[in-house]
Amino acid sequence: MAKQNKPQHAPDTGHEWDGIRELTNPPPRWWMITFHASWIWCVVYFILYPSIPLVHEATKGILGWTQIKELKEAVAENDKVKAPYLQKVAAMDGQALLADAGLRSFAESSAKAIFGDNCAACHGAGGEGAPGLFPSLADDDWLYGGDINTIIESITDGRRGDMPAHEGMVDEADIEKLADFVIASAEGKGTPEGLALFNDTGCAGCHGENAAGGAINELGSGASNLTDGIWRFGGSRDEVLRTIRYGVNQEGVANTRIAIMPAFGGKLSPEAIKMLAVKVHEFGGGK
Ligand code: HEC
Ligand code: HEC
Repeated sequence: MAKQNKPQHAPDTGHEWDGIRELTNPPPRWWMITFHASWIWCVVYFILYPSIPLVHEATKGILGWTQIKELKEAVAENDKVKAPYLQKVAAMDGQALLADAGLRSFAESSAKAIFGDNCAACHGAGGEGAPGLFPSLADDDWLYGGDINTIIESITDGRRGDMPAHEGMVDEADIEKLADFVIASAEGKGTPEGLALFNDTGCAGCHGENAAGGAINELGSGASNLTDGIWRFGGSRDEVLRTIRYGVNQEGVANTRIAIMPAFGGKLSPEAIKMLAVKVHEFGGGK
């Protein structure tokens, strides 16, 4: 250092401006080492990894490394860790899975991503649903049933509520009376006359003699419980009238309600569906 810092002894380039000479001192040693190490590292990297962009793709590098490959390896590693659990899930029915605390929490956490990818668009990230469009899965009120096997069935085969349009089938005056009865029933104030009309006009065939429908009946329709104050499509008079007049999923009826749960049987594995069912079951508080 000391030697190089003596300008009078250092060789110069012969250039001088206003008394300032341009010296030819080599850069410090540490700097040279870093410099050479850097370019050597670059060349080695270029040889090992994909790097130089050519016309269609970059040079591949002799290690054959790609981001996709790295991701696939990570996924395979993850699958390997999960495999024994999944095997157990595959061998169990829904009830047994619920009863096994360890596997149940594995199922719930695995189902989180599956739910996000396949279900949340309609039912919401927390299963809260969308009023009038998609039912809440989180409120312990079930159209088809909240036991684990019924949930598995809902997911595997899909669901399609079916309520006929009553406009033209039932007198307009009776339709109005039925709407009043349904709204009153939701508050536990349905009158006996209303209930009689409800039975006479065939509503009870699906919704049950006391309008407390709920579970699947012989028509497989999943008719709503009309006495619990939980509205699937909306509880204002206009909304109730619309449901009664135009029904649910009626082809060719302009204002009918659309309520179609797609079938996931062909799309998701039976294990994935079982794990989803555990998650949905937990949403609803379990039953
Ligand atoms: C395209 C929208 C849509 C998607 C996606 C969807 N659902 Fe549904 N789901 C519905 C509708 C609509 C219903 C109500 C069907 C009816 O009213 O007959 C329903 C009903 C259900 C039911 C029955 C609820 C009850 O009260 O008995 C369950 C359980 C369910 N869905 C779970 C899921 C799961 C789990 C997924 C993801 C794998 C999923 N759904 C994806 C629209 C959807
Ligand atoms: C063939 C079976 C069937 C008959 C008959 C039927 N319903 Fe329904 N109803 C359903 C189903 C199924 C649903 C729920 C649809 C869904 O959520 O997918 C429903 C839903 C409703 C709803 C909406 C409830 C809510 O939470 O928003 C009302 C109101 C209703 N029905 C009233 C009636 C009345 C009044 C009658 C008689 C005039 C009647 N229904 C006859 C099957 C039927």
